[in-house]
Amino acid sequence: MARETWATRMGFILAAVGSAVGLGNIWRFPFITGQEGGGAFLLLYLLFVALIGFPAILVEFVIGRYTNLNPVGAIRELGSGAWNYLGWLFVVTGFVTLSYYSVVAGWFLRYTLIGVTDGYALAGAEEANALYGSVTTGLDSLLFHAVFMALVIGIIAAGVRRGIEVAVKVMVPAIIVLLVGLAAYAFTLDASGAAYAYYLTPDFGYLAANWTSILPAAAGQAFFTLSLGMGVMITYASYLGEDRNLAADAGIIAALDTLIAVIVGFVVFPFLFAAGIEPGGPGPSAIFVSLTSAFSGIPGGRIIGVVFFAMVGIAALSSAISILEVLVSYLIDEFDVARVPASAGIGVAVFLLGVPVTIDLIFLGLYDNLAGGVLLVLGSLLLALFVGWVIPDVARNELEKGIGSLGGLGTAWVWIIRIPIAIVVLVSLYLGVVDY
Ligand code: PFF
Ligand code: NA
Repeated sequence: MARETWATRMGFILAAVGSAVGLGNIWRFPFITGQEGGGAFLLLYLLFVALIGFPAILVEFVIGRYTNLNPVGAIRELGSGAWNYLGWLFVVTGFVTLSYYSVVAGWFLRYTLIGVTDGYALAGAEEANALYGSVTTGLDSLLFHAVFMALVIGIIAAGVRRGIEVAVKVMVPAIIVLLVGLAAYAFTLDASGAAYAYYLTPDFGYLAANWTSILPAAAGQAFFTLSLGMGVMITYASYLGEDRNLAADAGIIAALDTLIAVIVGFVVFPFLFAAGIEPGGPGPSAIFVSLTSAFSGIPGGRIIGVVFFAMVGIAALSSAISILEVLVSYLIDEFDVARVPASAGIGVAVFLLGVPVTIDLIFLGLYDNLAGGVLLVLGSLLLALFVGWVIPDVARNELEKGIGSLGGLGTAWVWIIRIPIAIVVLVSLYLGVVDY
């Protein structure tokens, strides 16, 4: 059977954007920014997306398009010896990431339903916290984790790529419109001035004193939010023809993803400040607490809230399926398992791995630090080194297909993935592991 390809360039970009835009932008970005001091983190994060994330997307793209294979097969074809284990690392990272990603996505489904049945009329931060507590622990959390994984399994088992494309086409613009509307409302709050100052002014004294935690957090977030380090972008690019401008596509994906994350900050921080909540305090609850307060205060807040939480759920779905697709394509290719049992089997295993997170939020921190802070960064580093040092000519050729020599940009790219990525990632891995 001929290997599948994307129908259109747009289809590829939308699927990649669908993978990139998700809980990383809406849930993870604001709470990590809060924990790491606001503006100082934002500055480093933006630098890393541009200087390291963007070249790292291209690393995955060239491997995928050149080999037309799943990540494990692709690396085996291009490398030899110990490099083969790198594909395995991607599989393990995807497994861990999807397991807690699904739990958090389930919370968004639960919040959607709360809006439908009860609305978000909460008296204040205390009530918002209590609601968060009841949603995120116990049977509720377990149930919605199960529902979300069932949806992910269903889509991947059916292999519905059309469905993803349509969903993303409507959803990404809708998310931006809703977020901009919420940000405009947040602007009217008295606390917004202080919140913007916190969010947008890098405190260099704070950065100097805390760089050992800000740097690994910013690097980890840059890779996480762009769906790097587990082979998703390899897999998606493996369905590409030869004529796409990979650099332009990667630029669009990184820019849209960053735009959405940055706007989320313009929503979350004013509401936290308005509620008198320390931005570093709430951690993973930041988005839920700030938004339920927002929706309590706006006329029509209930409807806006339902639409918003549901859309985040769908955004999470289009990210989660990209992870399961990597795991499933690996099982299909390597062990000749059929798509349906492969999807169900891996999906159930991922579900089970996520169960501890529904029991105690301690596990959320553990899983997220391990996958988002260490494994994903390690995978991206090794892949960059592999491409930059082992197959640089193949890679540069592949990048230049359809765009020419880029005025020496191809050469610059090879040097960026050879040395600067390695320095940043090794330093942040070292700091991250010491911290872990
Ligand atoms: N990029 C996704 C987000 O920001 O929500 C998360 C993600 C998806 C990470 C797929 C990694 C991945 F392979
Ligand atoms: Na993202």
